[in-house]
Amino acid sequence: MDIIEKIVSNFKNNKSLYIGENVTIAEHMIQSAMMAEKSKSKDNLICSCLLHDYGHFILDDPDELVRNNQDGRHEDIGYEYLKKFFKKEVVEPIKHHVIAKRYLARDKKYYKRLSEASVISLKLQGGLLNSKEAKVFEKEEFFKDAIKLRKFDEAAKKTGVKIKDIIQYKDLLKASLR
Ligand SMILES: [Fe+2]
Repeated sequence: MDIIEKIVSNFKNNKSLYIGENVTIAEHMIQSAMMAEKSKSKDNLICSCLLHDYGHFILDDPDELVRNNQDGRHEDIGYEYLKKFFKKEVVEPIKHHVIAKRYLARDKKYYKRLSEASVISLKLQGGLLNSKEAKVFEKEEFFKDAIKLRKFDEAAKKTGVKIKDIIQYKDLLKASLR
């Protein structure tokens, strides 16, 4: 099976809820991609959104990790896998979407908007960045896209939203291959 077919089938078969939220991981990723589209983002960023939590599909049991107070580093697992197939512009923001949360959450207003589950995972992911770490992160090549991805990510946990079918993103996925 080629990678696009594999991704489509993973999305279609995913029934597990996104940890601590009321949407599935697949719905959550599609919702974030739809938000990126609505904001007229570049195709690369839309594709980043669509695949940003793909690491959760690879991890054995993401819920079990949270129950045991462990962080599965899904951003690295997704990145290491996807970089074999997708462009740098697509996978780099994925790699940095967790550190982007640790960066953004330094702002009190942003922190208050985090869901309960997101506050718990923030702790497991290392908590807020200190100012030195924040400055280093700002110099990352894909800093801006990682921040944008993170904001779409945070907002994409709504229930009762009409969600596109993964099939509708097949062409975008194909065009994002390296
Ligand atoms: Fe996410």
